[in-house]
Amino acid sequence: AKITLRQLLDHAAEHDYGVPAFNINNMEQGLAIMEAAASCDAPVIMQASRGARSYAKDIMLEKMMDALVEMFPAIPVCIHQDHGNDEQTCLTAIRHGFTSVMMDGSLEADMKTPASYEYNVAITERVTRMAHWVGASVEGELGVLGSLESGEGEKEDGHGFEGKLSEDQLLTDPEQAVDFVRRTKVDALAIAMGTSHGAYKFTRKPDGDILAMHVIEAIHQKLPNTHLVMHGSSSVPEDLQAIINRYGGKMRETYGVPVDEIVRGIRHGVRKVNIDTDCRMAMTGQFRRVAMEKPEEFDPRKFMVPAMEALRKLCLDRYERFGCAGKA
Ligand code: G3H
Ligand code: 13P
Ligand code: NA
Ligand code: ZN
Repeated sequence: AKITLRQLLDHAAEHDYGVPAFNINNMEQGLAIMEAAASCDAPVIMQASRGARSYAKDIMLEKMMDALVEMFPAIPVCIHQDHGNDEQTCLTAIRHGFTSVMMDGSLEADMKTPASYEYNVAITERVTRMAHWVGASVEGELGVLGSLESGEGEKEDGHGFEGKLSEDQLLTDPEQAVDFVRRTKVDALAIAMGTSHGAYKFTRKPDGDILAMHVIEAIHQKLPNTHLVMHGSSSVPEDLQAIINRYGGKMRETYGVPVDEIVRGIRHGVRKVNIDTDCRMAMTGQFRRVAMEKPEEFDPRKFMVPAMEALRKLCLDRYERFGCAGKA
């Protein structure tokens, strides 16, 4: 059944687990995510970016989500707008069956310019008021994460706006988080804790302590009823990089957020863990492998089936390691 982010994360908080939020753009990803969840009885968050909505089209996504929910009746599913940039994006998502929206007011509506605090409070408060009228949940964001432009490859230390922003803008301030949640009434809060979007997060292998655990802990202590969200949570696994590069890909050396670090974050109050890059890599590695190993192949299903299998395996691993297996 469909549930809201508030319902799902309240349960996660009560039972001390975290929920991966996988980005979805098409049927193959939807099936793989749901099959993985069903195989271990995990609750699901599927999230669509603005790019996903214009790629798949709103009506297609809506009916597909309905189909997935119907096919897996025992699995609670939250359908979430990832990085909504204004009121219109958030409200049209809800009209198309989303049970939760992210109003990302940490950036201006162009999603490139860091926004003022007052802009963020005002637009997030408006969206929360409207979403709560109709029973949808809201995630806000306070603090600026690294680049949203995937594939850009310039952001390597987790600080996409480095040079333009001071250190304190790169980590969320706990006092400001309290003010933000009091004024906006969001259900969940994405905080800047040292991660960035995309495949190129760190140039060196992280040696632990890459997440600002003290910030997570301080915010969690002050806001025990607000669920913390960690963006940029792909681990960029070396084995997936190796598969892509073995079959003609060109990913340069890079490191993501180790799963153990995410698990530490979950122990300190992180409840929603956003993962897109790893899912893309799992599928793309198989597309490349089939293309090279079977150059005579031209049936797309022969590419999709192993890609779905690789994604299913990735999702299952995250469900298990984040503690949500068996919690559906
Ligand atoms: O944080 C952004 C997600 O990875 C979605 O990316 O906008 O290319 O769909 P996208
Ligand atoms: P990754 O690029 O690390 O997968 O992060 C995805 C994300 O935060 C989506 O909102
Ligand atoms: Na989101
Ligand atoms: Zn994000």
